[in-house]
Amino acid sequence: MRNLQNKVALITGSSRGIGAAIAKLFAQAGARVVVHGRDVAALSAVRADIEQADGQAMQVVADITKFAEIEAMRQQIEQAWGPIDILVANAGGSFSRPGPLEETSEEDWHASLAGNLTATFLTIKSILPGMKQRKAGTIITISSAAARRPHPGSPIPYAAAKAGIQILTQDLAAQVGPVGIRVNCIAPETILTERNAQRIPDEQKQTLVDTHPIRRLGTPEDVARAALFLASDDAAWITGIVLDVAGGSVLV
Ligand SMILES: NC(=O)c1ccc[n+]([C@@H]2O[C@H](COP(=O)([O-])OP(=O)(O)OC[C@H]3O[C@@H](n4cnc5c(N)ncnc54)[C@H](OP(=O)(O)O)[C@@H]3O)[C@@H](O)[C@H]2O)c1
Repeated sequence: MRNLQNKVALITGSSRGIGAAIAKLFAQAGARVVVHGRDVAALSAVRADIEQADGQAMQVVADITKFAEIEAMRQQIEQAWGPIDILVANAGGSFSRPGPLEETSEEDWHASLAGNLTATFLTIKSILPGMKQRKAGTIITISSAAARRPHPGSPIPYAAAKAGIQILTQDLAAQVGPVGIRVNCIAPETILTERNAQRIPDEQKQTLVDTHPIRRLGTPEDVARAALFLASDDAAWITGIVLDVAGGSVLV
């Protein structure tokens, strides 16, 4: 197990899904984990799981489309545990249906941009100054296979927002590398989170499996292991990458 001993790690959107898996794995690796979301009951359940496994966790609530709420969350974390060493800006999701561009509503467009690209920008804007002051830290952002190659069935606002996160990550990596901060991005293909397991019909799951050179769908733990590598000192000379965690699906 890679060593994140005593590091304070904030994983946004860790009340469920990929974020919850990252939080649990980081806690197993010794990090003090801040679980974040809006659903207090779900956050308490993730925190309880971590504590039952002898990990350390605290829970915070903030709407990450609102800078004032993110700032209040950061201050709450710093008062309780001190500075944030690791940020995984994971919260997000697809807020638009796949379909023809001209049928995409302005509302869905703005929701996808706000909930992914702007949310990632605002979260980093709040946490980065402390990392720069301490000349240390690592940031992981989350894109999607939807932003790795065009597809006629793509939800365009989501894909565009995630593609924006990729260049934000790389520009930032170039900006803050000289002060000792690494910034990387993970781009997962469809992951069997609780929500996707329920939402995607079985026949569609099989069709999806067939598009992967590695013939299965990804799990939240597949993404968590990649995040642990990038957050750890094993990745000390890696910055500015977009890592496909996709079973090879973006190759074909
Ligand atoms: N699952 C996939 O197949 C897949 C594939 C590629 C990329 N991704 C990306 O991976 C990330 C995690 O996806 P997931 O499937 O694990 O998501 P999920 O199960 O839908 O969970 C989303 C998480 O983000 C939080 N969140 C969303 N918007 C928020 C907001 N405005 N303020 C605060 N919290 C917010 C939710 O908190 P509450 O529910 O507590 O409000 C929840 O913890 C997302 O960025 C997603 O786009 C997912």
